[in-house]
Amino acid sequence: MSQSLLINKKIKSFNKSITVSGDKSLSIRWVLFSSLANGISISRNLLISEDVTAAIDAVRKLGIKVNIRKNICKIYGRGVDGYKYKKNIVINAQNSGTLARLILGLLINTKFPIKLIGDKSLSKRDFKRISDPLSKFGAKFKLNKNKFLPLTITGSNNLKPINYFENKGSAQCKSAVIFGGMRAKGQTTIKAKKSRNHTELLCNNLRLPIKIQNKKNFDLIKINGVKKIKKLKYTIPGDISSSAFFIVLTILNQNSKLIIKNININSSRIGIITILKRMGANISFKNIKIYKGEKNADIHIEYVNSLKAINCPSNLNSSAIDEFLVIFLVAAKAKGISYFKDLDELNKKESPRLIWGEKILNSIGVKTISTKNSIKIFGKPDLNLNKKIIIKNFLKDHRVFMTSVIAALSFGGDWEIHDKDSIKTSFPDFLKIINKLKS
Ligand code: S3P
Repeated sequence: MSQSLLINKKIKSFNKSITVSGDKSLSIRWVLFSSLANGISISRNLLISEDVTAAIDAVRKLGIKVNIRKNICKIYGRGVDGYKYKKNIVINAQNSGTLARLILGLLINTKFPIKLIGDKSLSKRDFKRISDPLSKFGAKFKLNKNKFLPLTITGSNNLKPINYFENKGSAQCKSAVIFGGMRAKGQTTIKAKKSRNHTELLCNNLRLPIKIQNKKNFDLIKINGVKKIKKLKYTIPGDISSSAFFIVLTILNQNSKLIIKNININSSRIGIITILKRMGANISFKNIKIYKGEKNADIHIEYVNSLKAINCPSNLNSSAIDEFLVIFLVAAKAKGISYFKDLDELNKKESPRLIWGEKILNSIGVKTISTKNSIKIFGKPDLNLNKKIIIKNFLKDHRVFMTSVIAALSFGGDWEIHDKDSIKTSFPDFLKIINKLKS
């Protein structure tokens, strides 16, 4: 059984500069694109976490050689038709929704049936949202209870391009269909509600036949069948979703200051910064650079004395989707009642995160009113705890664990937080960095 972490002291003020590990979305995408490329792709600063090693294991199962030394990774691609595998293989996506959903797009032409499985949390998540559009290309699916993993995909060698409307703001759905479109003959058209656009930027960088029109509320993407992908050298920038924990820790701890170096600040990822700035936080980007179409920068954060509540516009939801748990901690300390709405997608993550966000807030004595997709948080600027709090049975959701650690270090109290191993999913170095800030 995974160990618990005990915390019974607030962190003291700090003034430090840190780096965090490579971006998870970019790391998984780099592995998948490289597995189809011609030649040896090399990445530096690849995130080495369970979600990414699951991606590496998956492409190895498909016959692709991968070499990793520290966080330098080499993938020996054999071209878009270079996968070689036996009958009846099983791919285990473990906890990773991104891997499980994106790889299905690449498997729609598989000759033999491939089984896809995942851990307990992934097995509770919706895969019909992927099998529905991918079936339209001509692939066949068998899903547990018509919706869940384990599933079996059998591809077709006569794939037809499709028209698809992605209306959830899900980059995983959009990307799976882009990958599918790369496999079909002719032009696939996607109208997609705004969501992270790393897949499109990588396609552009690789000069694949993709056209993107950015409209006000959605993007129009056209992708043609792909015959060749060139090898891809990539230095993965730091992850804004991992940085989020330290951004909030700084905001909640008197007289603290922090610099987080070289973080991906793609505009489809920085909803947290917009939200926290509107709440009064002092955050700025310095040293902004464009790298392979992605914007990266150092993030400077300084504690401020007063934070105000926010009525959060739902057009920021997709760009902050992985950060709401920590954003709720800031709302807990802000003056006034914060309101977050249209968060249907939040309960569909590694755990039902709207429910878990509320549980954490209530356990620290913060009043909330929630519906199935919204929450009002009654901020308490003087929040200071001295009670026992136990956080457990959260489906090992890494972000529930890390959010609880930030709450414990910021608000005080006597915390017992279970399933420490959950950080291995996305951010194995999380506690090392916390210790650096403590020292
Ligand atoms: C991701 C997309 C998001 C996000 C996940 C990573 C990606 O999921 O929550 O952590 O890399 O495409 P959805 O696309 O389901 O919103």
